[in-house]
Amino acid sequence: MADDPPRKQHEHASLIFPKDFLWGTATSAHQVEGNNFFNDWWDWEIRHQPLSMRSGRACDQYHLYEKDFNLARSLGHNAHRLSIEWSRIEPEEGKFDEAEIEHYVKLLKYLKSLNFKVMLTLWHFTLPKWLADRGGWENGKTVDYFIRFVEKIVPKLKDDIDLWITINEPGVAVSQGYLVAVWPPQKKSKWAALKAYWNMTQAHKKAYKIIHRLVPDAQVGIANNLASFDAFHHHSVLEGISEWGLDIINNHLFYKLTGMGTHDFLGINYYFNQYISFSGKSRFPSLVDISTTKKDVSDMGWEIYPEGMFDILMDFSDYHKPMYITENGLASTNDDRRVRFLLSYLKEIYHAIQTGADVKGYFHWSLIDNFEWTDGFTPRFGLMEVDYSTQKRIPRPSAYVYQEIIKHNGIEHKMLKLLGHGLNVEEELKKMAKKDH
Ligand code: FCB
Repeated sequence: MADDPPRKQHEHASLIFPKDFLWGTATSAHQVEGNNFFNDWWDWEIRHQPLSMRSGRACDQYHLYEKDFNLARSLGHNAHRLSIEWSRIEPEEGKFDEAEIEHYVKLLKYLKSLNFKVMLTLWHFTLPKWLADRGGWENGKTVDYFIRFVEKIVPKLKDDIDLWITINEPGVAVSQGYLVAVWPPQKKSKWAALKAYWNMTQAHKKAYKIIHRLVPDAQVGIANNLASFDAFHHHSVLEGISEWGLDIINNHLFYKLTGMGTHDFLGINYYFNQYISFSGKSRFPSLVDISTTKKDVSDMGWEIYPEGMFDILMDFSDYHKPMYITENGLASTNDDRRVRFLLSYLKEIYHAIQTGADVKGYFHWSLIDNFEWTDGFTPRFGLMEVDYSTQKRIPRPSAYVYQEIIKHNGIEHKMLKLLGHGLNVEEELKKMAKKDH
């Protein structure tokens, strides 16, 4: 009788991602460029924010982009997501600034020369001031203005773009601008919110068609802020029903209104897990204020809940479209937390892929610390720290962890050790590098 083959030693498997996976980071123009004088945010910041909370020079990426992109490249990134600033390109109605267009042409050519796959967002929260003065997204004519902008800019940039995002987080823009009303235009009105949302769906649909007309094989989608929802009291039927309703409104509505034929891929920004509570005290269920619970949260007060990433990816697999994580990241001044965040969310993405989710890339928010809207510069989302007084970029240990992940196209088993608490990440990385040799 032949000997049994020797039993394989038990090895913990590494979490290796699919071939050609995109590894990058995401930013948006107003948050990093600096001096966007002609948009609605700039104007609003002057009127509502103290000097220290205004975008001002931000990260000065308008001038420092080569440095930033070189840094990303040296850390192994093979993809980058960024946006162009409409108000620079069309500072006055109908007057396009060719020098600014040229700036973006140069910038994107530079990215491409470094071999990045480029994901470009056409609208990321800021409107030219002249357009905001005419009612912004609440005004149906804004759809036409957006389309004119798209028709103008796409032919100029198209050769250097791999993936197009028409609109970033329509639901967030509308709710922050018109429902919670803490962002420009700060107009609390459900009717205005509905109009703005509807106009964004029309803008996306038309932009999708135009981009495809100009670039037949283009890949076009949106970056949608998807939240996972959970009933706070698990036995509550009413909470369960509300969970279902909120999931439709927050996560699926834009796709229902635009039709899946206008999305070549799904861009997923994942930051939020929300609990729905129906206590009976009010007639309506409400979202639980997370600060009243014992959940782990970021410096933004957003819950850290990696499992939600798995749930969202599995749920959205039903659309049978390629998926990209277009944003996911942590505000924290404690970089150890970012390391654990990165590893634990990527683990969930890996398991979702194993279970059948077609995830093609991950764009961490963000490459560098930047201007976090009404929260100013306090939240620290960057893999690189920015010293705003000198504009120096200082890679954090998490940047090197990400580099290591990219190098192996996934998480080597030994890296999972970094999920533990109280480790010196830099020391551990050095030890791992030594063992590699
Ligand atoms: C997302 C936005 C992005 C950034 C992150 C933290 O909702 O798209 O601009 O502010 O949150």
